[in-house]
Order: sequence, then C-alpha cells, then structure tokens
Amino acid sequence: MKLVFSRWIAIGLLGAAGAWAQAPAPEPATAPAPNGPPAGFVAPAEPKPDDSNAARAKSQPGNNAPFWRGVRNSGEVEGVTNIPGIEKGVLIQRFERYPGADYATAGESWRQVRNRLIIPYGGSLMLIALVAIALFYFGRGTIGHAHAEGGLRRIERFTPFERSAHWLNAIAFVLLGISGVVMAFGKFLLLPWMGHTVFGLVTYGLKTLHNFVGPLFAVSLLVIIFTFLKDNLPRAEDWTWVKKAGGMFSGHEVPSHRFNAGEKGIFWGGVFVLGLTVVASGLVLDQLVPSLAYTRGTMQVAHMFHATGAVLMMCAFFGHIYLGTIGMRGAYKAMRNGYVSEDWAQEHHALWYEDIRAGKIPAQRSGTSAPQEPMRQAREA
Ligand code: HEM
Repeated sequence: MKLVFSRWIAIGLLGAAGAWAQAPAPEPATAPAPNGPPAGFVAPAEPKPDDSNAARAKSQPGNNAPFWRGVRNSGEVEGVTNIPGIEKGVLIQRFERYPGADYATAGESWRQVRNRLIIPYGGSLMLIALVAIALFYFGRGTIGHAHAEGGLRRIERFTPFERSAHWLNAIAFVLLGISGVVMAFGKFLLLPWMGHTVFGLVTYGLKTLHNFVGPLFAVSLLVIIFTFLKDNLPRAEDWTWVKKAGGMFSGHEVPSHRFNAGEKGIFWGGVFVLGLTVVASGLVLDQLVPSLAYTRGTMQVAHMFHATGAVLMMCAFFGHIYLGTIGMRGAYKAMRNGYVSEDWAQEHHALWYEDIRAGKIPAQRSGTSAPQEPMRQAREA
C-alpha cells in the first residue's frame, strides 16, 4: 500500500515540475514611476485596437485615449512643447489626494473637491445662513428702539474717513460676492434659463470684473483692518456679552464699548482671518504675487482656500449686512451719516457712551460735522 501511494506522489510531483517548467517566467517587478499611480493600480485594459479608435479619431480628432493614458500613467514626465511658461510640457499632473477627494490626477482630485464639497456644502451653508437670518427677523424683528433724532445727531460714531473706507470696501465685497456666486453657482441658477450664449457673456463679464475689483478689495480691506483694529481689541466686558449672547434673545442689550463682542468676532474672524485668506489666495489666482511658481497645483490649492474662505466670509457678512441694514434701528444711519443720538449710544453701546459722557472719548472726532447741541450733562453715577 505504502509503495503504491509514494509512486503516485512521485508521478504527481513529476507532473507539477513539468507544468512549472512550461509556465512563462514571471515579469521582473518594476518600481512604480515617482508620483505615478499607486502600487497595485491596475490600468484599465487597453481598448482593443478596433474600429472604435478609428471612429474616435474621426469624431474627436486628437482625442487619442491610449496616448493620454500613457501620459497620465507616466507620472508627470515632462515632454517638449513650444508653449512658453512653467510646466507647459507636463500634459497631465501627478496623482494627488486633495482633502475629501479620491487619489487621482491632481486636476481630477481638485475637480472632485470643488464639485463634491465646495459647491454643494458651500451653497447649502449660504442658504442655511440666509434662512436663519430670515427666521430671526420674523421671530425677533428689528432690534432697538426708535430714538428721537431731533435735528442733528449727537455723537460722531464714524468719521468721514472711516465711512468712505467702509463703503468702498463694502461695495467691492458685494461686487466680488455677486460675481463669485455667479462663477460658482451660475451653472445651476442662471444657465438653465439664460442659455449658453447670454450666460457665457454674463459670466465672462463678471469674471473680468472680479479679477479687477479683487485687488481693490485687497487694499480697502487692509485699510479697514488698520482703521478699526484698536477698537476691536478684546476687553473684559466682552466675555459678559458673549455669555449672554449680547441680550439678543432676552431683549436686554448687554453693555459694550464702541464695538460689542459680536462685532469684534466678525472683525477678527470675518475681516481679519477670512478676509486675508480670501485676499491672499485671490492675489495668487490673479497671478499678482511676484516670484511665485504658478503651476496648476498652486492654482488648485489657492482656489480651494479662496472658494472656502469666500463662502464662510459671505455667511458671516450676511449677518453683518442684515444688522447693518434692517436688523438694528439706527445702525445703517450711523455708517451713512456718521452720527448717533445719545439714546442710541446708551442703548446699544452703553460703556462707550459712558466714556464719552465722562470725557474719556471725544463725542466729535472729525472737524467736518455740523454744529452740535450741547450734550446732556453726565448723570450722577
Ligand atoms: C453692504 C454691505 C455692508 C453693510 C450694509 C454694512 C453696514 C455696516 C454698519 C451699519 C456698520 C456700523 C455698525 C456699528 O455702528 O457698530 C458697519 C460697521 C463695520 N463694517 Fe460693515 N457693512 C457692509 C459690509 C462690510 C464689509 C464687506 C466689511 C469688511 C469686509 C465690513 C466691515 C465693517 C467693520 C470693520 C465695521 C466697524 C465695526 C467693527 O469693527 O466691528 N462691512 N457696517
């Protein structure tokens, strides 16, 4: 029995050896090209060289898929072109994984970030912000009391310089916001009813406007930051304001200095951090930063910062614009004419008003305004 079994083993082993000798030698393992597709990446099967290629060459001349597949998998190997400029010899970028996207060629990965994250989530966030403001307006109404304005306003809240700097910045921001929203969401909101020709003209015009107003906003934003920085520095009382949400839900406004903690939050979060992010990335997109290598990668990263920063900034300034127009009585006029009544100052910025009455802060800072009626004497504390 044992003899028979070992014979079969011998026969089996011989058979296996024979089969092995037949099998083709395994391909030597090639190291993946640097920045090329990841190890284990299986290139889609080459399309059979059948008529379809010939058909494609006719219907889409130059769309030579096998050629492009080769270029894509070559890991950004630079070829020769006679187009001037950086990386013009690189037809397809390296493989990359931008946050929230697949590992794909950088252009594809960036496209996914834009179309899967920035557009849907950014758009939803802006809608949510607008709906929240509308609910607040219909729920709580305009904040503040109508104060006797009799004749000239009493306290100068914003000087002519502060107001012109503010409105120049505000107008630039609104123009950038509208043109930016059309570039990002116009395809869904305008194209369906405008048609390609008109939509193309409108977006081209707005994109050009965006590229020119951008640098203007960059300058006016810096002016705004330096102009209002001192009065936005944090103070002890700001914490009380934050804890009570400024009295926005109780109806009793919490005393604050010239700017309350909410305004300071918009200043440091909206104007300073988001504003400078949007401006810096915008200047890169406008190719206005000297000695920077404007590769596609640089532009993709700048775009992601720019679009994300702009969406968040617009959400923040929806609130600022609401309070600065219909959301708080007398606020718009303060930035329009520069003056507020004593009652307004006392209701909305009581600590600022007390400092003025105590003579620590001048009620009039610029020399250009109209004559004032005498101030009510400081109430005995
Ligand atoms: C249409 C758009 C805008 C309107 C209607 C508006 C309205 C106002 C109003 C009424 C005030 C006075 C608030 C107060 O008395 O405390 C104000 C203050 C201010 N605004 Fe605007 N604004 C607009 C856009 C902007 C933009 C785009 C920025 C900056 C990117 C900005 C930055 C400021 C700053 C820094 C102040 C001073 C208060 C503070 O520092 O917190 N505003 N705005």
